[in-house]
Amino acid sequence: MRLADISAVMAIEHAVFPTPWKASAYEYEITSNRLASYQVLTQQQSDRPSQLIGYAGYWLISGEAHVSTIAIDLAWRGKGLGELLFISILDLACADAAHLVTLEVRKSNSTAQTLYRKYRFQAVGERPRYYEKREDALLMTIEPLDDDFRVFLRGMRRDLFQRLGQKKEGSSSYK
Ligand SMILES: CC(C)(COP(=O)(O)OP(=O)(O)OC[C@H]1O[C@@H](n2cnc3c(N)ncnc32)[C@H](O)[C@@H]1OP(=O)(O)O)[C@@H](O)C(=O)NCCC(=O)NCCS
Repeated sequence: MRLADISAVMAIEHAVFPTPWKASAYEYEITSNRLASYQVLTQQQSDRPSQLIGYAGYWLISGEAHVSTIAIDLAWRGKGLGELLFISILDLACADAAHLVTLEVRKSNSTAQTLYRKYRFQAVGERPRYYEKREDALLMTIEPLDDDFRVFLRGMRRDLFQRLGQKKEGSSSYK
């Protein structure tokens, strides 16, 4: 993620999250927070400017990667792109030598939980009234990020790329 991406990130952020982060929070994350790493997913059609369709990030703290956010534009959901972004976060966490990945997710957010469980995350606890002092968070982690997990991740990436390749039929590409 670059500073120039933030306005497109904010459009998705406001459409997706009940308590969106401010643009200044993203500015801080990408310019000043050395523990933070943020990715964007862009879609390119040959004759048009690229379009930002998702983003995700994490903080690396004492060997633990804490996923701070992940979102896909509503119009682009259900095509494997959230999974693509999540794999890229997990890849980076492995490259950063993280030994675990952790995140909070709303108890009601079964879509995101299904994605995380697909990647072997398990619910390990709860944070009561974590969201807007109302809704509980589920704490989910994957541990350890060992060779077995890396092999699993490689297989999942290969399968996903195959599915994406079949779907796009040369009309778009994702970065
Ligand atoms: C979570 C999110 C990033 C998933 O993105 P997406 O591009 O729609 O998801 P994908 O198409 O890549 O699907 C990947 C997996 O997610 C799960 N999933 C996706 N949509 C789902 C749905 N409607 N119901 C249940 N599971 C679903 C499935 O496990 C799916 O794998 P499958 O295709 O093999 O079944 C997206 O829903 C989103 O941006 N949500 C709002 C923001 C948010 O909740 N972020 C998480 C904060 S903790």
